[in-house]
Amino acid sequence: MPTTATNPSTKPALRTGKIYHMGLSPPLGADPQEVRALLSPLRNDFTIALYAADNAFAVGAIIRVAHSFLAREIVIIGDAPYYEKASMGMEKYESVVRVADDDAFLSHVGARPLWAVEKDHATTSIHAVTTFPRDVVLLFGSERFGIPEPLVRRAQAVIGIPIYGVNHSLPLAVAAGIVMNEWARRRYADGVTVP
Ligand SMILES: C[S@@+](CC[C@H](N)C(=O)[O-])C[C@H]1O[C@@H](n2cnc3c(N)ncnc32)[C@H](O)[C@@H]1O
Repeated sequence: MPTTATNPSTKPALRTGKIYHMGLSPPLGADPQEVRALLSPLRNDFTIALYAADNAFAVGAIIRVAHSFLAREIVIIGDAPYYEKASMGMEKYESVVRVADDDAFLSHVGARPLWAVEKDHATTSIHAVTTFPRDVVLLFGSERFGIPEPLVRRAQAVIGIPIYGVNHSLPLAVAAGIVMNEWARRRYADGVTVP
């Protein structure tokens, strides 16, 4: 039995009722186009970009997570197939853009700020980021080769997630989830976006 001191129901000040926020109630059976239209004004201004090659499971998992954070779009570089089921069906609500190669990717990014997420070349720790720029494109590398150096050089910032064990890197989908959560941590208060 919890004591009075530890029972959460006795601490109303800590229970805002807004611990999490869903864009919409789960749209079971609804037409995906209709759901997309309803989500459109709720979307956040960041984009997730990643390499398809060598990420068969990660790509689907990232689409699923990017949906939960209502990313503007997900850009996949390369034509390698991936395991769609890992997105748990969220792909149908998302803008997934395929580009053939790095040049096509850069022309798709255009004037938007490009931030690479790559520990080995990092110039900034994710913990030191105070704000993410509007319309930022967050680029993640392949599980095998990371982000090619020309794209790292083209990025306005290179972000590292500090890790402490002997393993060289995090699984791609975990790294992407951490960065999306860090984006949200700076832009949400009680379930609403803040400037
Ligand atoms: C599994 S890592 C593989 C990287 C590649 N094998 C290497 O050693 O350079 C795949 C991608 O996840 C992201 N990633 C994983 N751990 C990271 C970390 N600690 N900081 C920043 N990005 C990370 C990066 O985008 C990276 O390119």
